[in-house]
Amino acid sequence: MGAIKGKNIVVGVCGGIAAYKTASLVRLFVKAGADVQVIMTPSAKEFITPLTMSTLSRHAVITEFFTANTGEWHSHVDLGLWADAFVVAPATACTIGKMVTGVADNMLVTSYMSTRGKVFVAPAMDLDMMSHPATQQNISVLKDRGVTVIEPREGELASALIGKGRMEEPEGIFEAVERFFSIDKDLDGKKMLITVGPTYEKIDPVRFIGNYSTGKMGCCLADEAVERGAEVTLVAGPMTALPKNDGIKIVKVESAIEMLAACESVWKDCDAAIMAAAVADYRPENCALEKIKREENGIQEIKLVKNPDIAATLGHTKNKGQLLCGFALETNNEREHGTMKLKRKNLDMIVVNSLQDEGAGFGVDTNIVTIIHSDGREIKYPKKSKREVAKDVIDELFECKK
Ligand code: C5P
Repeated sequence: MGAIKGKNIVVGVCGGIAAYKTASLVRLFVKAGADVQVIMTPSAKEFITPLTMSTLSRHAVITEFFTANTGEWHSHVDLGLWADAFVVAPATACTIGKMVTGVADNMLVTSYMSTRGKVFVAPAMDLDMMSHPATQQNISVLKDRGVTVIEPREGELASALIGKGRMEEPEGIFEAVERFFSIDKDLDGKKMLITVGPTYEKIDPVRFIGNYSTGKMGCCLADEAVERGAEVTLVAGPMTALPKNDGIKIVKVESAIEMLAACESVWKDCDAAIMAAAVADYRPENCALEKIKREENGIQEIKLVKNPDIAATLGHTKNKGQLLCGFALETNNEREHGTMKLKRKNLDMIVVNSLQDEGAGFGVDTNIVTIIHSDGREIKYPKKSKREVAKDVIDELFECKK
């Protein structure tokens, strides 16, 4: 019970029959010492009265952007900042879709989009809506964005159909939120360096050699680490992804040389580093000062020179107790190549994935990895979201120290 005490919780109620159960959820939160603010979508009021919710939560329920007769404005930004947790229960297919696409046409969705707290979604809908690819895809997007989806149960539904779609019981939702607040900040006090994204190696002022890395995996690692209490410096090449959490120090770089310099300046104070960047192995020996012109014979050949191996540089300057993890994206002989890199770069652990696996690699939201430790232990994982892979990687890396 202690973990909920003093927390600010927004409970977002959508228009579904399970809304009546949310009254008990609000009561559980209040009893456990949380300050609860209920937001109802306009259709939620058809299922349960705001009076019930305001009595239980001890605060006036918010539905509209402002109160019509007084003109009082309800700031979704303030609410979003206030919330330690934002719990949408029941979450209808409609609201889940709006959360995914950012259709911020009501107080619930605008507040959700402003929230920096942890978001929980407890879907409740008919079994066909639940299993519809639209809903399934939306739920998987939310999960990937770090939202905890409290899966509905199987059973008899309000429509009398039987299947998956019943909202989790209030006690189950309460437990999920309580568990979140009692998560060990097991990386508290740890300083971590994470490299992420591609590097761009300049040919001339408008062209570069680069690669397809989006930085998703590295951003998930940074989010996981910071949520578990670590102080994270993300040395980022020109990536398209962004971490979800504030409080991650982002050092933007472009080339491998710049990335190395940024890493070297923080590495000595770090407890661990995860090298998730896709660093270009080579760079043009010279970068032309002016745009190379096609008419003047253009680029016939680019002389390349080897880039420094950042992971290996850190590996060979590693102090006792510092942990270093690399990634290896392979197309064949994954295990053998991974193990070779682990040794050559003096890593404690390497995360190997194969471009041959569907659902692994650049740009996708999932990954299929094998983790190899320096002592030879090897763990193969099934296909998971990159966020789940980030958890596995961090669990394994810090376990190395034991
Ligand atoms: O040798 P390879 O590029 O496959 O090694 C991949 C691992 O080494 C990744 O962790 C990557 O971030 C890191 N690396 C690096 N600097 C390089 C090349 C790779 O840090 N120049």
